[in-house]
Amino acid sequence: MTRGTTNPNRLRRMDRWIAATLGAALRRADDPVAVDLGYGAAPWTAVELLARLRTVAPATRVVGIEIEPARVTAARPYERDGLAFRHGGFEVPVPQRPMLIRAANVLRQYDETEVAAVWRRLCGRLAPGGLLVEGTCDEIGRRHVWVALGPEGPRTVTLATRLGSLEHPSDLAERLPKALIHRNVPGEPVHAFLRDFDRAWAAAAPYASYGARQRWIRAVRDLRADWPVTDGPARWRQGEVTVAWEALAPRG
Ligand SMILES: C[S@@+](CC[C@H](N)C(=O)[O-])C[C@H]1O[C@@H](n2cnc3c(N)ncnc32)[C@H](O)[C@@H]1O
Repeated sequence: MTRGTTNPNRLRRMDRWIAATLGAALRRADDPVAVDLGYGAAPWTAVELLARLRTVAPATRVVGIEIEPARVTAARPYERDGLAFRHGGFEVPVPQRPMLIRAANVLRQYDETEVAAVWRRLCGRLAPGGLLVEGTCDEIGRRHVWVALGPEGPRTVTLATRLGSLEHPSDLAERLPKALIHRNVPGEPVHAFLRDFDRAWAAAAPYASYGARQRWIRAVRDLRADWPVTDGPARWRQGEVTVAWEALAPRG
């Protein structure tokens, strides 16, 4: 049995981004099902995902899926309208094709060589217009990095952080998802990206007097000259930045 570490509010940054990115598609879907895959030893993240997605798409239902049967038994008392818990794994045992599969802090327990096949399998379960969000964060959710994938494969990488506690953007390196964390070495794109982000952050130091948020926004604007940033100031203000996957994908 693997550790089931989780925490209330741990995944709020990821939930917020999913609600903003997928809200319209969830509203359009006939049966908007979202899966919280590997929710852990307590059901908090699934409960919160339901609440946050229902603010943008009230018909959303969430199914929490866990590979450890005892964690399913422990979660069952929290079932309610729109929230169910099931035993299972990457086969994603729900009858529908989900609009969302969120796997947070799950693949970190697997080998890097397994990631591509797991991604393909999970992407193959998505509804048209659906999203797989797979990533990692610290225990209390101050630092997150996740990859978003459509049915066709990886699209973007998002870094999200509590700005007040950030010394350098490369502080997020220890939260890179499994596909990237071993690639933070010279010669790999993700290493060059974090190096450039640190440089842009250092150059934006004068903006710190207006607050860390202004400094982050300035640094991301600079970064955009060399990296395919796909989002804009409304997201940067939240301490986020999203970059096209191809720019950070491992070489070879
Ligand atoms: C570290 S916990 C993460 C909990 C929660 N997602 C979070 O981020 O706070 C990882 C959980 O993933 C579960 N897990 C690992 N492999 C899985 C799989 N193939 N399918 C479903 N759950 C899995 C483990 O049993 C564990 O409870």
